[in-house]
Amino acid sequence: MTSSYCFLVFTITILLSAILPIGFAQIISYSNFNYTEISYQDNLTGTPPHVLGIKHYADSGGAAVVRIGRVNYYNNITSSYCFEQRLLLRIIQTNGNVTEIKYNDTNEIQDINYCLVSGKNPISIYPLFDQYILVSYVHATNTSDNTTFMDRGMVFDWNGTNLSKLEFGPSYLIKGTTIWKPNEFIVNNITPKNGFLRLSAANGTGDFEWSQYAYNGNGSFKLMTKNRTHDNAFFTSFQVTVFATLDGGYAIVYANSTNMASTNTTTSSDATEFTTTAGLYALILGYNQTTTPKRIILYELSKPNITFTYLYCSVDFVSIGHSCVTAVSHVHTAVNQTNTTIITTATQTVPVTVAPATTASQTIVTVVPVITTVPQSVATTIFIVKIRFLSSGSLLSIDPIFPPNSNITNVNVRTLPLGGYAILLRQFSVLALNLNFSLYDEENKPTNYNFPLKPIVTDLLGAFDITQNNTMLIAQNETSNSAWKLLSITMPKLTPYNDDGYGNLHIIATQPQNKINNLTLNHNSINITFRESITFSNGFLNIYQITSEGSFLRQKINSRTCDQSTQCNISDNSVILNVLECTFNEPEGKYCIQMDNNFVMSSQYGEPMLGIDPNMWTFQIVVDNDPNSKHDSNIQGSLRLTANGTQHFQNLDSSKQSEFIDTLIKELTTMIPTENKRLDSNQNVQFDKSKLLISFLISGRNKNQKLYSTEIVKNLNLLINNKASTPISSGNATSYLDDNYGVQITHSLAESIAENKTKFITLFVVIVAFLLVFLFFRAKAKEGENLIILQFGVTMFRFISYVIFVIFDSTAISFLYTPR
Ligand SMILES: *[C@@H]1O[C@H](CO)[C@@H](O)[C@H](O)[C@H]1NC(C)=O
Ligand SMILES: *[C@@H]1O[C@H](CO)[C@@H](O)[C@H](O)[C@H]1NC(C)=O
Ligand SMILES: *[C@@H]1O[C@H](CO)[C@@H](O)[C@H](O)[C@H]1NC(C)=O
Ligand SMILES: *[C@@H]1O[C@H](CO)[C@@H](O)[C@H](O)[C@H]1NC(C)=O
Ligand SMILES: *[C@@H]1O[C@H](CO)[C@@H](O)[C@H](O)[C@H]1NC(C)=O
Ligand SMILES: *[C@@H]1O[C@H](CO)[C@@H](O)[C@H](O)[C@H]1NC(C)=O
Ligand SMILES: *[C@@H]1O[C@H](CO)[C@@H](O)[C@H](O)[C@H]1NC(C)=O
Ligand SMILES: *[C@@H]1O[C@H](CO)[C@@H](O)[C@H](O)[C@H]1NC(C)=O
Ligand SMILES: *[C@@H]1O[C@H](CO)[C@@H](O)[C@H](O)[C@H]1NC(C)=O
Ligand SMILES: *[C@@H]1O[C@H](CO)[C@@H](O)[C@H](O)[C@H]1NC(C)=O
Ligand SMILES: *[C@@H]1O[C@H](CO)[C@@H](O)[C@H](O)[C@H]1NC(C)=O
Ligand SMILES: *[C@@H]1O[C@H](CO)[C@@H](O)[C@H](O)[C@H]1NC(C)=O
Repeated sequence: MTSSYCFLVFTITILLSAILPIGFAQIISYSNFNYTEISYQDNLTGTPPHVLGIKHYADSGGAAVVRIGRVNYYNNITSSYCFEQRLLLRIIQTNGNVTEIKYNDTNEIQDINYCLVSGKNPISIYPLFDQYILVSYVHATNTSDNTTFMDRGMVFDWNGTNLSKLEFGPSYLIKGTTIWKPNEFIVNNITPKNGFLRLSAANGTGDFEWSQYAYNGNGSFKLMTKNRTHDNAFFTSFQVTVFATLDGGYAIVYANSTNMASTNTTTSSDATEFTTTAGLYALILGYNQTTTPKRIILYELSKPNITFTYLYCSVDFVSIGHSCVTAVSHVHTAVNQTNTTIITTATQTVPVTVAPATTASQTIVTVVPVITTVPQSVATTIFIVKIRFLSSGSLLSIDPIFPPNSNITNVNVRTLPLGGYAILLRQFSVLALNLNFSLYDEENKPTNYNFPLKPIVTDLLGAFDITQNNTMLIAQNETSNSAWKLLSITMPKLTPYNDDGYGNLHIIATQPQNKINNLTLNHNSINITFRESITFSNGFLNIYQITSEGSFLRQKINSRTCDQSTQCNISDNSVILNVLECTFNEPEGKYCIQMDNNFVMSSQYGEPMLGIDPNMWTFQIVVDNDPNSKHDSNIQGSLRLTANGTQHFQNLDSSKQSEFIDTLIKELTTMIPTENKRLDSNQNVQFDKSKLLISFLISGRNKNQKLYSTEIVKNLNLLINNKASTPISSGNATSYLDDNYGVQITHSLAESIAENKTKFITLFVVIVAFLLVFLFFRAKAKEGENLIILQFGVTMFRFISYVIFVIFDSTAISFLYTPR
């Protein structure tokens, strides 16, 4: 029941992000992350470890996984680098700790995986959720026959344990050839625990295949649905991407370029100008959908010689829905024909010296500039198009942007989590890559932030990633033979809206406030105010308590099933949720609230709204603990099992029954939560209308203990009565508790005497007085009148004890008397 969803964030400082006074400084500051590596292979000790990839978790507080490797040899035939034959992953946790994973079984991950193929690594890493990492690779029954290549996946945890394997199917061979081109995209569901989608080119065809995988527990996944497209569109220069949509499904977005065979635009007639269309299309798949939907058109251009060179899509963090940014190159007749010849200078990496097998450090390549003379009438324009669209396929906007520097054709674009986007221009140099980037705001205007490092010299693959907290991590060119380095740049917030730390630009305010510790004990409502008007959709809001042992679910609210007249209300742009009084019951307790995507949707567009990630909305309950508070007493009571639970219990042998009760008590102790041993059971059971009652005892509060026993009873009763929305429903033993019964209080004789000393003394006095009166009257009275006196006495006794009970007990546990 411990969940890794919320972390102990209160003591954690994020080492990776440089702290910036945003809004004031226009100068971007950097911070470095250096990590020292040992070499596992003797002949590679003198070569630097390279960062081959960086990927971050969507959850887990944004931990990043870095893949590293040293160059093992240079493959003369394929003109590519081959790295050491082991999978080396480094997990950079949010507290700066690094966990190392090493996998070296070359029978499973064969050498072909460690060589670059057309500039791409056959091995891909995908951080999924919790501590799971998916690694995809190719496995061949005969490594020299590339028609036997099959794609596989393996799931690792942070201990480096291989938890499961996946057989994905044949690896991609280009139609009509035996040219192998590893090409796949895996994208995690927007709710990472719901699985992932894999897109791959289908072997030997122009189609691609998509497969949805569902999580199967314990780090394993199973194929859910699979189908293929029939566009016959997948050719080598094709741009395709996949991303997770807010409604829990996926979108496949791809671009079709118009024929590039001739750059001679004078030959193209007006007719071809209008019939050839380049375009950007999307297939929007629902979660667990089995069919391939019809494509929707996102963007089309009726011009020849249009090539889409880059494509990036994601949830639109600022607006509603999703957005794609794409780089488009257009070869056309220059508007201004001048006498100067236009020369484009490209660089190409060519090996000149190949090292003798022993001295790896000499494995070096030089850069040869390739000067291409382009006819003066032809020019290339590169422009960026930003397209916003809804899950339904409706377009919201299309904005073309022309970046100033257009002679670099290797353009990457990334939207930033806190608004705006970065355009990255990449140029190769010796075993390194120069990266220049510029930032654009939501109005597509260049911003004037000053980047002191221009260009950033990154390593041979130019690995970089942008984490959810708006930090760009870039591999730095490795100069040391024992360490790799990352440059961490906190990007400025380019949104016109304030972000109050929820990681969700649509949220204006919440109650309890974020990171302000002023919540009162037993507070029973939550408010969330959005920037736009909203309605309930279908998702959970989870309230976790964060302790040193982990985080514990305290209550969950489903926006589809919760009672909209009493529990869940919306007034225009505010959500008001009533929570159980027992949820915020821990004095000085730390809490975190997580909200699923699609918990609410936009009223205007009917589009799911982004949720709140774990650890973003956190607060603490502040109370003055009164050290001189009054002592309170033990309470004894009973719990009831459901019919199912009773049956389950009866099927257990006696030692297992006793274990069941122990588990029940242990689970309840953490769910309330209260100190160990405050809640106990003498293992007594009995039947109540064929259902089993289990007795329990709550000991009175001592100094330094948090809750009064009456409060514990009250919380326990609320938890069990609202079983469906509390952890009671997910415990191993607690799930068998009867929510119609809750808890009932019983008193044992000894306890009643001990607890109610004054009452018993009073009673004793009354009885003695009564006896005296009785004896007195008996001595005086005649035969036959005694009985009346006796009856009077009994009536008096009943009355007095009833009055005593009502006065002393019923106030303490008043809810027991409220009718249900
Ligand atoms: C990390 O490496 C950079 C560049 O070599 C250096 O400037 C910086 O001082 C190093 N930082 C640490 C903590 O070693
Ligand atoms: C690389 O290839 C060239 C010609 O193909 C050959 O002469 C040379 O010996 C090769 N080098 C190595 C290290 O295999
Ligand atoms: C981080 O690493 C240090 C040293 O290995 C260890 O003492 C500490 O407990 C780790 N922190 C966490 C949160 O794992
Ligand atoms: C692979 O790893 C195991 C365990 O870490 C180690 O014992 C073995 O020597 C390694 N093999 C190679 C070839 O590095
Ligand atoms: C990782 O290993 C540690 C100690 O060996 C163990 O306590 C922990 O449960 C393991 N974690 C996982 C996810 O297997
Ligand atoms: C695949 O195998 C064929 C024939 O064996 C070979 O010509 C081709 O270069 C190979 N392709 C790759 C990418 O290894
Ligand atoms: C892939 O297609 C090629 C022909 O295009 C075929 O020779 C090969 O057997 C196929 N591979 C698999 C694993 O089906
Ligand atoms: C891509 O464009 C070509 C013409 O340039 C056309 O024949 C082909 O059908 C298009 N493919 C898709 C998937 O639109
Ligand atoms: C463009 O086409 C015209 C007419 O077919 C031809 O005369 C000219 O040489 C072509 N130019 C180039 C650069 O191919
Ligand atoms: C997917 O759909 C099938 C058939 O509708 C259903 O049996 C299955 O439970 C669904 N899987 C998930 C994970 O929702
Ligand atoms: C795949 O999708 C098509 C529609 O595109 C559908 O007709 C077919 O039944 C689907 N196949 C499976 C196995 O669901
Ligand atoms: C290092 O040794 C391996 C064999 O153990 C060999 O394949 C590789 O080419 C060597 N690398 C260098 C750089 O010498």
